[in-house]
Amino acid sequence: MTGTAHFYWASFVLLLHLPNTFGTPSLTSGPSCRCMPGDACWPSTQDWNQLNKTVEGRLMLNVPLAHVCHDPFYNQEECEYLKEQWILSPVHETSSTSVMAPWFQNASCDPFTPRQQPCELGNYPIYSINVSSAHDVAAGLSFAREMNIRLVVRNTGHDFLGKSAGKGALSLWTGNMKSIEVIKSYESTYYSGPALKMAAGVRGVDAYEAANANGLMVVGGSCPSVGLVGGYTQGGGHGMLSSSFGMGADQVLEWEVITAEGKRIVATPEENADLYWALSGGGGGAYGVALSMTARAHEDRKFSGAALSFSSAGITNDTFWEGFSAWQAYVPKVVDAGVNAGYQVTSSLFTIQVLTYPNATSTQTRTLLKPFTDTLERLGITYSLNVTSHSNYFDHFVYYLGPLPGGEYEVNSLVGGRLIPREAVSKSNEEIVNAIRFVAENTSAVMDFFAIKSHPDMAVAPNAVLPAWRSAVITSIYTMKWNFSVPRNVHLAQLDELNDIVIPRIDEVTPGSGAYLNEASFADETWKWDFYGVNYDELTQIKKKWDPNDVFYGPTMVGSDVWAVAGDGRLCRA
Ligand SMILES: Cc1cc2nc3c(=O)[nH]c(=O)nc-3n(C[C@H](O)[C@H](O)[C@H](O)COP(=O)(O)OP(=O)(O)OC[C@H]3O[C@@H](n4cnc5c(N)ncnc54)[C@H](O)[C@@H]3O)c2cc1C
Ligand SMILES: *[C@@H]1O[C@H](CO)[C@@H](O)[C@H](O)[C@H]1NC(C)=O
Ligand SMILES: *[C@@H]1O[C@H](CO)[C@@H](O)[C@H](O)[C@H]1NC(C)=O
Ligand SMILES: *[C@@H]1O[C@H](CO)[C@@H](O)[C@H](O)[C@H]1NC(C)=O
Ligand SMILES: *[C@@H]1O[C@H](CO)[C@@H](O)[C@H](O)[C@H]1NC(C)=O
Ligand SMILES: *[C@@H]1O[C@H](CO)[C@@H](O)[C@H](O)[C@H]1NC(C)=O
Ligand SMILES: *[C@@H]1O[C@H](CO)[C@@H](O)[C@H](O)[C@H]1NC(C)=O
Ligand SMILES: *[C@@H]1O[C@H](CO)[C@@H](O)[C@H](O)[C@H]1NC(C)=O
Ligand SMILES: *[C@@H]1O[C@H](CO)[C@@H](O)[C@H](O)[C@H]1NC(C)=O
Repeated sequence: MTGTAHFYWASFVLLLHLPNTFGTPSLTSGPSCRCMPGDACWPSTQDWNQLNKTVEGRLMLNVPLAHVCHDPFYNQEECEYLKEQWILSPVHETSSTSVMAPWFQNASCDPFTPRQQPCELGNYPIYSINVSSAHDVAAGLSFAREMNIRLVVRNTGHDFLGKSAGKGALSLWTGNMKSIEVIKSYESTYYSGPALKMAAGVRGVDAYEAANANGLMVVGGSCPSVGLVGGYTQGGGHGMLSSSFGMGADQVLEWEVITAEGKRIVATPEENADLYWALSGGGGGAYGVALSMTARAHEDRKFSGAALSFSSAGITNDTFWEGFSAWQAYVPKVVDAGVNAGYQVTSSLFTIQVLTYPNATSTQTRTLLKPFTDTLERLGITYSLNVTSHSNYFDHFVYYLGPLPGGEYEVNSLVGGRLIPREAVSKSNEEIVNAIRFVAENTSAVMDFFAIKSHPDMAVAPNAVLPAWRSAVITSIYTMKWNFSVPRNVHLAQLDELNDIVIPRIDEVTPGSGAYLNEASFADETWKWDFYGVNYDELTQIKKKWDPNDVFYGPTMVGSDVWAVAGDGRLCRA
């Protein structure tokens, strides 16, 4: 490192931390709280240098992505670029710290606050290890444990609930571990057939490309930049292949894990089976660090797809909602054919953006949809329907959810979610439609739905996927679009609207169900039931066994209730 570079870093640390944390020893510090900069217990520069040696120079002092938008590092061109790209995933995904959820960015350093406002780390971890091996992960874990500092595991930063951020933390950044091994024939008592062994940083797009090149396909998310090995699969994972092949967690053959104690182990349905069970659906980041995952792959095949839309133009609002109701009532038939569909409704527009029908022809897709389109015709609703056919999954995916690598999903979102049970659709379809209509007409939430079914029989082995997923035919997502140019009180009002008006209205018509822990509100007060259901107690026991010192923490993770975030952002035992 040159002298100039050193000066740059040193002054950055000063700018970042001095005003907030240095010189204000906190009364809450002590064994019950994690250490923060400025505390007597915070590791010395020497300690950090020693850690850096252990990890062969892979320790990074983090600088938030948007520092180029603030003095003294302001760079107009780079800042303009970030401003344009901020609501898409790629710029965040490739950084060591950035998270996509604006609530957790908390405007501490973004491209929209004034140039003169200092760039602060806020919830972004202070140090990251750009991990490349079991050794790096184990070194980071033992440092965090011994020094009593907060630990974060970060892959792509997609998490909506703040689980890949953490004030004052050391982060294990797994995003650069991208190796993929295609296994033509994996053999075990519980599966024989093709598989992919994916390192911790492999994203959907990486896996789809590798599988495609080998005549295979794998279950992954609709957003191609979501990581497969981290939060997605560990949290359950739904995607366009799920109604035919199960959820992400249902595909797992092996986890290669570094435990909280720093030991490298393998978890399969037969070896360390409790950990296998918990990691497959019990939530990302809570039980250990996954170094890799080996998951089932499926023989590729032809795909048919469809997009359909109609608006309220020329018809009454009631007729428009009858059309929506007809679709929702038909969803169970759609998913039972092994089909997935992503759709949206607003107060005046219904759109199926992508329907995915494996191994089907265009004629089969039209036939599948015919009872529904007949109803639309009977109601006098004019619709647009386009049906496609592709020779493999990859081409189908790119056609509907490209361009690669990032896709087009916007991430300026505050989200809530709810799983809609099959039984609720069959017994109280109209009540659910009325609730959705209420949200469309009387709130500012944007609604997205995924028609999907999964069954425990589709899984490699029993796993911790929330049971409510198994009885659901729809997962619904309610998004408040974040406007970076409005004051904080507007965002607080949006949060209240989402949690006090939108979600309760949907909960009311889906009693006893739950929510997908990756696409739900971080402020859900009944998160234990909603995200983990009857599995919560068993998951807690497994967490205690594998993480006896509570090294792993993130909001709404199993066991997170033993911690509370204090006013200054410090993590303390509750
Ligand atoms: C635009 C967008 C689209 C999405 N689309 C879908 C979708 O189609 N289907 C779906 O199911 N979900 C979807 N999601 C949700 C997504 O699955 C979650 O955000 C998930 O947590 C992302 O995992 P990640 O590892 O990429 O992200 P990160 O934010 O980096 O990590 C998420 C969590 O996993 C933990 N973690 C990461 N890596 C590891 C590891 N190696 N070992 C242990 N813990 C780890 C982290 O600590 C954190 O708790 C979407 C999210 C966004 C923002
Ligand atoms: C760790 O060491 C590398 C290589 O010597 C260096 O580039 C990097 O800045 C160091 N990290 C920290 C936080 O000092
Ligand atoms: C965001 O920052 C405010 C102070 O500006 C703080 O009160 C709040 O707790 C922070 N929120 C999060 C989620 O970090
Ligand atoms: C992280 O490590 C990888 C190799 O594992 C390297 O290619 C990459 O440049 C590193 N990233 C940063 C920001 O240091
Ligand atoms: C179907 O294709 C036409 C022509 O490209 C387009 O105008 C229309 O919006 C498409 N409909 C849907 C539902 O995507
Ligand atoms: C696809 O469908 C055809 C005809 O319906 C059937 O013969 C074939 O086995 C199916 N292929 C797969 C991979 O399911
Ligand atoms: C919207 O709110 C108004 C006023 O409270 C109410 O009369 C109306 O029924 C609501 N709309 C729906 C669809 O519930
Ligand atoms: C139909 O719904 C739209 C959107 O909520 C609303 O603006 C319009 O007034 C409604 N039309 C009638 C006739 O109620
Ligand atoms: C965000 O808010 C600003 C200020 O109120 C407004 O000018 C702008 O149009 C809003 N942007 C969007 C995309 O709604």
